[in-house]
Amino acid sequence: MKMMNGGKQMKDVWTGSLTKPSEKKEGKHPTQKPEYLLDRIVLASTEAGQVILDPFCGSGTTGVSALRFGRRFIGIDNCEEYLQITKKRLEKIDGENEEF
Ligand SMILES: C[S@@+](CC[C@H](N)C(=O)[O-])C[C@H]1O[C@@H](n2cnc3c(N)ncnc32)[C@H](O)[C@@H]1O
Repeated sequence: MKMMNGGKQMKDVWTGSLTKPSEKKEGKHPTQKPEYLLDRIVLASTEAGQVILDPFCGSGTTGVSALRFGRRFIGIDNCEEYLQITKKRLEKIDGENEEF
């Protein structure tokens, strides 16, 4: 995390922009998280090849970051509409970064 933060210790309060409209092209979710946030969490807490389970995945932002960095992903949500958004987002991201 220090490396991601220009060599400085990362603070425990993170500030940043809201979810970009470009990340909402596959459909709307009321509390969709920004991808940069999940990218940071996935990189800080998992290694390539590991399985990440998000049992409340919403629009699938955790899955987008998981696949982006070579992790595997299991997403659960009790709303079919949100699972469809997740599926579309993951289909777009799959294979984006073959090197991981
Ligand atoms: C805060 S949202 C997750 C947002 C997600 N991180 C994203 O970026 O889109 C929480 C999700 O949990 C789902 N949910 C709520 N209760 C649930 C339950 N009992 N089982 C499965 N999913 C549930 C909701 O449908 C909602 O999409």
